[in-house]
Amino acid sequence: MKYHKLVENAAKPQGFWGRLMIRSMNRGHHELTDWALHYVTVPSGCRALDVGCGGGRTVQKLCEMVGSGKVTGVDYSALCVEKSQKLNQKNILCGKAEICRASVNELPFAEESFDIITAVETYYFWQDKLGGLKELLRVLRRGGRLLLVFEMLKDENDPEKWKAVEDRLHIEAVSREEITEILLRAGFWNIRTHVRSDKGWMCATAEKE
Ligand SMILES: C[S@@+](CC[C@H](N)C(=O)[O-])C[C@H]1O[C@@H](n2cnc3c(N)ncnc32)[C@H](O)[C@@H]1O
Repeated sequence: MKYHKLVENAAKPQGFWGRLMIRSMNRGHHELTDWALHYVTVPSGCRALDVGCGGGRTVQKLCEMVGSGKVTGVDYSALCVEKSQKLNQKNILCGKAEICRASVNELPFAEESFDIITAVETYYFWQDKLGGLKELLRVLRRGGRLLLVFEMLKDENDPEKWKAVEDRLHIEAVSREEITEILLRAGFWNIRTHVRSDKGWMCATAEKE
């Protein structure tokens, strides 16, 4: 029962269980995020966006990488915005970070606003995945890069691996092929996927031409 309440709050954290989930995500996605960030260059001075920023740990990591640049975090959960703001308080005060409440399908940013966009463990929850990716393409500058990060990768040898979570949250684990195909359909190019097989993790990088 407690476990279920916690898991259900991965989609849009709120209330008591949402707070616990945010804490657990900040801890649980730390190594996964570090692994995936190796596949992108985050140049000093760049503008970065983290969508579905949860508790804000990726925003914090990106702030350490962008030097004189700026990092924006976005989440549609009010609690996540509050927690991310708290974690990144110092960087917000000095104008290096900002956290906004918004959905990935309707971002309050002009076209070509960001050099790099990250999305860690959030894609499965987007109601309109293709629309979300097109919106990310819109706010990405030409030559900019998207990084999608996944822990829930389909396993051919164990098709039931994610069934309990999939059924409870009404989401689906992803495959390299599906992600490549939808990124192409959204208009990205130079798509690459990387798998860490000992952990079952996957990340995809893609560019705006
Ligand atoms: C499993 S959590 C991952 C949080 C964070 N990226 C991390 O790695 O710890 C998924 C996050 O995506 C957010 N989210 C889901 N759908 C969203 C959407 N359509 N727009 C913005 N945020 C969304 C949720 O509120 C939640 O904070």
